[in-house]
Amino acid sequence: MSKHLLVTGGAGFIGSNFVNYWYENHPQDKIIVLDALTYAGNRQNLINLENNPNFSFIHGDICDRQLVDNLLEKEKITTIAHFAAESHVDRSILTPSAFIQTNVIGTFTLLESFRHYWQKKNQPPEYRFLHVSTDEVYGSLDINDPPFTENTPYAPNSPYSASKAGSDHLARAYYHTYKLPTIITNCSNNYGAYHFPEKLIPLMCINILLGKPLPVYGDGQNIRDWLYVQDHCSALDVVLNKGKSGETYNIGGNNEVKNIDLVQLICQIMDEIAPNLPIKPSNELITYVKDRAGHDHRYAIDSSKLQKELGWKPKATVESGLRKTLQWYVDNPQWWQSLLSADYQKYYQQVYTTINS
Ligand code: NAD
Ligand code: TYD
Repeated sequence: MSKHLLVTGGAGFIGSNFVNYWYENHPQDKIIVLDALTYAGNRQNLINLENNPNFSFIHGDICDRQLVDNLLEKEKITTIAHFAAESHVDRSILTPSAFIQTNVIGTFTLLESFRHYWQKKNQPPEYRFLHVSTDEVYGSLDINDPPFTENTPYAPNSPYSASKAGSDHLARAYYHTYKLPTIITNCSNNYGAYHFPEKLIPLMCINILLGKPLPVYGDGQNIRDWLYVQDHCSALDVVLNKGKSGETYNIGGNNEVKNIDLVQLICQIMDEIAPNLPIKPSNELITYVKDRAGHDHRYAIDSSKLQKELGWKPKATVESGLRKTLQWYVDNPQWWQSLLSADYQKYYQQVYTTINS
């Protein structure tokens, strides 16, 4: 049976990769994207689908209950894939309130709307609410700690991760209280095409192309587990088609790397693939800057539950995923140049004051 998916945040980085992935693999399904087009949302990411009769785009806010109620009914939604969020830790340190509004209130609004709709339809067991979340809810690991499992207690450290933790708890509670068929996924750091310039990998890549300093926070020893976004999409496909409601699945790339090593690798690949770089070798641009407040030291994901129960595993290594990603940024300058707006420059000045002082 074909699905009618409501994809919230489908114009953002992971959401748009997911929508494009879904059409390649399930062209018969209907997708309705609901996106508020904040600074992070970009309709260009979905341009290939504009004329697809199974696709529609609604510009709106997930906190708008009336809009969501009407959409679920009108489009006969069977599945919500919920990506919409404020997603950047540094912005959550500067301006936390938007994170509470979208991540907590927005998720609550969607859950409430979906609950009433699902109950009215006599609780079809195949309906799903997929809540896409982050490994950051588990807090920070020391170097010798085992990776996060689905049973690791929550210990969020930033306003971003605290707001995501709140939304995870709501999704969990709606299953336990109402038996609403929710599934939660907690994934590690994604990277790939359409990643907004503020995040580590695109920021380094773009700054290399522009000959600007590469700001590494603190001592560069923090560790992240990097998940290629296409691997994330294939995991979500498996979870939506085979996952059990009420469950949580961790999704990781099995690619733990120190920030400074990742930046060095980005420089090395960019020196190989990008023509006419303003500064070469580009690692001359590496600049250590003031650390992020409350900077989590290490994230690492144990995704053996997903591997054993649903048969998924990531395909990309950091090197193979990075090569594809960096090549995409080299080939698509018009995509990222259009995002370096005056607002973005203002944000950049606020976060990277120490580069210029
Ligand atoms: P993103 O910031 O690139 O995109 C977020 C999208 O949500 C944008 O299109 C934005 O316009 C939209 N949006 C924001 N507020 C909205 C609102 N109130 N109503 C409707 N739409 C709204 O984020 P992303 O990196 O694609 O992340 C997607 C999801 O995955 C988020 O829930 C995030 O917490 C989670 N996640 C991301 C990562 C990562 O590495 N990027 C890792 C783990 C989990
Ligand atoms: P980021 O991409 O913001 O993801 P997250 O904070 O969700 O993990 O950052 C990844 C890592 O890179 C994190 O340890 C912070 C660090 N970082 C820098 O060193 N410099 C930068 O300019 C940015 C954006 C991040």
